[in-house]
Amino acid sequence: MKTGAGSALLRFPDKIHDIVHLIKHSCDIPVSVKIRLGWDSSSLNYHETTDAALAAGVDMITMHARTKAMGYSGTADWSALADLKHYVHNRNPKVPIFGSGDLFSARAAQEMLEQTGVDGVMFARGAMGNPFIFTDTYNLLTKGEETVYHTTRERVTTLLRQLHLMGNDIGERLACREMRKHATAYLKGIHHASKAKQALVQANTYEQYETICAHLVEETPQEL
Ligand SMILES: Cc1cc2nc3c(=O)[nH]c(=O)nc-3n(C[C@H](O)[C@H](O)[C@H](O)COP(=O)(O)O)c2cc1C
Repeated sequence: MKTGAGSALLRFPDKIHDIVHLIKHSCDIPVSVKIRLGWDSSSLNYHETTDAALAAGVDMITMHARTKAMGYSGTADWSALADLKHYVHNRNPKVPIFGSGDLFSARAAQEMLEQTGVDGVMFARGAMGNPFIFTDTYNLLTKGEETVYHTTRERVTTLLRQLHLMGNDIGERLACREMRKHATAYLKGIHHASKAKQALVQANTYEQYETICAHLVEETPQEL
């Protein structure tokens, strides 16, 4: 915001146009934009920002169906996603519209697709500590299979994998700190995990993470 980037751009559709135009003329890959409904409830301008992006040749648009002023409060307005899909379809049907906002399960993604007609969805908070949401959604949409629960073993295996992948990028120490918030998200809903969560938010090494996770799995009844 301080640098005029991100949602600050919602107040300057001309600038959105110029940025997309410049990027489109600088590279050969598809260019997408992500917008919100507008700055606040008295200035909903997603038609205008969409027009600017379309005029500049954008290839895909995602909308988080909240205003900037809302932050994460209230609920995302899915009806605006349906409206945007309709709006763009009438102007350039080749440009896909993706929806974002309040998708915490595969079922929610399916509902957004069905209720709004958007071409795709984006997960954000719902994927934190739950990267399974992508495969869960794929399985629900393509095979009608609903996954109700991921076992503790599966969760900690994935948690540790994410930790090591992150460590490859930023080093063990930083990754261990950065993973703390994700680690607690991974263990959300596991009744006997409170001790493990407390220990994980202080873990500084791969070894500590691995020991804590191994203990948790040992203490877990087989079916969970
Ligand atoms: C950790 C985190 C980082 C995010 N970073 C960005 C970003 O760089 N650009 C952006 O347009 N939205 C960003 N978002 C917003 C999300 O893409 C999404 O639109 C918003 O969280 C609403 O979706 P949700 O209710 O499923 O979380 C971020 C969200 C989270 C939780």
